[in-house]
Amino acid sequence: MSKKKVIIFDTTLRDGEQAPGFSMNTDEKLQMALQLERLGVDVMEAGFPISSPGDFEAVTKVSKMIKNTGVAGLCRANEKDISVGWDALKHAVRPRIHTFIATSDIHLKHKLKKSREEALEIAVNAVKFARNLCDDVEFSAEDALRSDVDFLCQVVEAVIAAGASTVNLPDTVGYTMPFEIDKVISTIINKVPNVDKARISVHCHNDLGLAVANSLMSVNAGASQVECTINGIGERAGNCSLEEVVMGLNVRKDLFDDIEIGVKTNEIYRASKLLTSITGVGVQPNKAIVGKNAFAHEAGIHQDGMLKNRITYEIMTPESVGYPSTSLVLGKHSGRHAFVERIKDLGFAVEQDAIQKAFEEFKVLADKKKEVFDEDIEAIILNQSKDYQETYIMKSVNILSGDTAIPTATVKLEDKDGNVMVDASTGDGPVDACMKVIERIAGISGRLKSYNIKALTAGKDAVGEVTLSSEFDSSGYDIRGRGSDTDVVVASAKAYLDALNKYITRKESRESMNSDKGV
Ligand code: KIV
Ligand code: ZN
Repeated sequence: MSKKKVIIFDTTLRDGEQAPGFSMNTDEKLQMALQLERLGVDVMEAGFPISSPGDFEAVTKVSKMIKNTGVAGLCRANEKDISVGWDALKHAVRPRIHTFIATSDIHLKHKLKKSREEALEIAVNAVKFARNLCDDVEFSAEDALRSDVDFLCQVVEAVIAAGASTVNLPDTVGYTMPFEIDKVISTIINKVPNVDKARISVHCHNDLGLAVANSLMSVNAGASQVECTINGIGERAGNCSLEEVVMGLNVRKDLFDDIEIGVKTNEIYRASKLLTSITGVGVQPNKAIVGKNAFAHEAGIHQDGMLKNRITYEIMTPESVGYPSTSLVLGKHSGRHAFVERIKDLGFAVEQDAIQKAFEEFKVLADKKKEVFDEDIEAIILNQSKDYQETYIMKSVNILSGDTAIPTATVKLEDKDGNVMVDASTGDGPVDACMKVIERIAGISGRLKSYNIKALTAGKDAVGEVTLSSEFDSSGYDIRGRGSDTDVVVASAKAYLDALNKYITRKESRESMNSDKGV
């Protein structure tokens, strides 16, 4: 019996990235896209091209770079969105236009102020327009799982007739129970006359913690595409987690014996790790499949069972998801070759001159720290992937602090024309003092919105990594910054400067766009 292929559609770079705290710059998206390609997802959604110049650029670059995976871009159901989306996607080996409009009465009445008939017409026209540009068109009926099922059947039939090869039924608000989604998918498959001309897909959000269960139930009911994200990131409570749904299908092959998926499960851990190091947001230790404790057996009875036979307490091996069995530690005697190999193992693709700079940073760190771990190397690499202009470069930070001292920071910055500026300030604490100096030198005021600090590895000599977000000049935008150093105050100053440089780049590019338009 030939098996039915279930498409794994990854939307980490679109639905995942649009969640607060998970934004990625273009270079970070490219790194992630390469790992998704290695992981063997069938389609990656690279962004929402019309939503911002950054998203347009990222989708364009991902489309040009990725050779073995389909690349999708999200577009609302109108000609402008779809044309812009196509401009970004047209370079891809396997492009896919993904267009959507809501179909639930709640969305139609309160958000779109349209009738069902109008929504149906818009959906059909959008699919037809997209099909004139691209052979592979996906249509999503947003909030499908709160839509009237008879109307949904009508929409599915009409968009398939208009040329959609995939019809996606999102549980946009994560409201559905597994037995309900089972019924909806079965109804669509049994009632829509032309359903065999397209794939039925699901896209489940996790507001009730049921996204994976609902996706598996849908596959069981006949859906042949699952939309998901690495680590389950995404709007609000996130999306269906790729690693969980894939391992669910894999570990329970006995139940899903008539389907096959293309994902290389031993690349899962690397994908998860790369995402957490890029975004600075880790997964909880007990997270299924990729959490730190996912394969740790603590209880004595469990350890005893494991020693007698692993299958007593282990339903999958750590190796099957790519957990590294040993972590190679580098040090000051490690050579360039070992360093480069380690970067590749961690999933990064780094160009030659960036490697040289990274290797120099590694040597400096190895002098400070006896052992350099994977997390340290990731921080060094991410430090290189700046796709914005560094208006200011940190030259030095000196801090006076203590329980009886007035915290004072002296910061030296160099601007892009080579001018060196030094200033000093007191503050509520050393971090506050550093930020005040940076703001004063740049002539920009900032408001810190979030601040997180973590030790990248164990050990008293660990590198501290700071991720923060700040709003500058009351612009209304939260800008993310990251910095790492063995000194946590210096790491904080670097992170703040990182955010400030991004803000300046963004401000300048907006100003030049406005002056081009004569605004
Ligand atoms: O959750 C949702 O409905 C979506 C669609 C736009 C696919 O993300
Ligand atoms: Zn979504």
